[in-house]
Amino acid sequence: MKNLVSIQKISKTYSQGGKRIEVLFKLSLEVKKGETLAILGQSGSGKSTLLSLISGLDQPDYGNIRINDCDLTKMKQEELARFRSEQLGIVFQQYHLLSNLTALENVTLPLELQHRAKVDDEARKALAMVGLSNRLSHFPSELSGGECQRVALARAMITRPSLILADEPSGNLDSNTGREIMELLFKLCKEREQTLILVTHNRDLASLCDRSLTLREGRLFSSDS
Ligand SMILES: Nc1ncnc2c1ncn2[C@@H]1O[C@H](COP(=O)(O)OP(=O)(O)O)[C@@H](O)[C@H]1O
Ligand SMILES: [Mg+2]
Repeated sequence: MKNLVSIQKISKTYSQGGKRIEVLFKLSLEVKKGETLAILGQSGSGKSTLLSLISGLDQPDYGNIRINDCDLTKMKQEELARFRSEQLGIVFQQYHLLSNLTALENVTLPLELQHRAKVDDEARKALAMVGLSNRLSHFPSELSGGECQRVALARAMITRPSLILADEPSGNLDSNTGREIMELLFKLCKEREQTLILVTHNRDLASLCDRSLTLREGRLFSSDS
């Protein structure tokens, strides 16, 4: 099957207080359409850095990143913003919900940014899909961690993006709630034939993915090795 993500020899170095921190070094990766891929690696190995480059929030120093045949490293800021809003769904460990908006409003936001019609109906459907029909007008502070992450999942999925990027989405949750969230994420991705790149330090969760790689010394290795 066709590759949705194609990364060629990207390198990324941060400069911090006169010191250079080489995080990624000539890293290459291909992800097929509809595949679920786990990325394991120790804290500080560069997992979040890699996701921020794939999401176009930051740029590699060298190499290129193609998603759906678009070269992110060649796009202008506005093109990138549109690309992100149309093609990507991102889920973070810290949920990143807007605290002054209700669950329903948080989920309608991505559609409103795309000037879509009937945003409320769509958002209600998305929240029903994650089992939160009875929490529409709750604010994030009135929801449990697991419920917040369900809202974040609904928000990431609502535009039907081809690629979901998830950075330790169960990292703040107890193990049962975390597992429930992950099973929901896998189910939705498979049903909708969405591609998933999941960063986790949990090998059990990684084993639910089609493939698992480990980030070490700036590159990706098969997790079995
Ligand atoms: N904006 C930044 N400026 C300087 N150093 C950074 C920055 N972001 C991350 N780093 C460093 O890069 C390394 C990888 O970080 P990160 O990608 O967050 O790792 P992980 O997600 O695997 O824990 C760490 O050593 C971290 O301190
Ligand atoms: Mg991280």
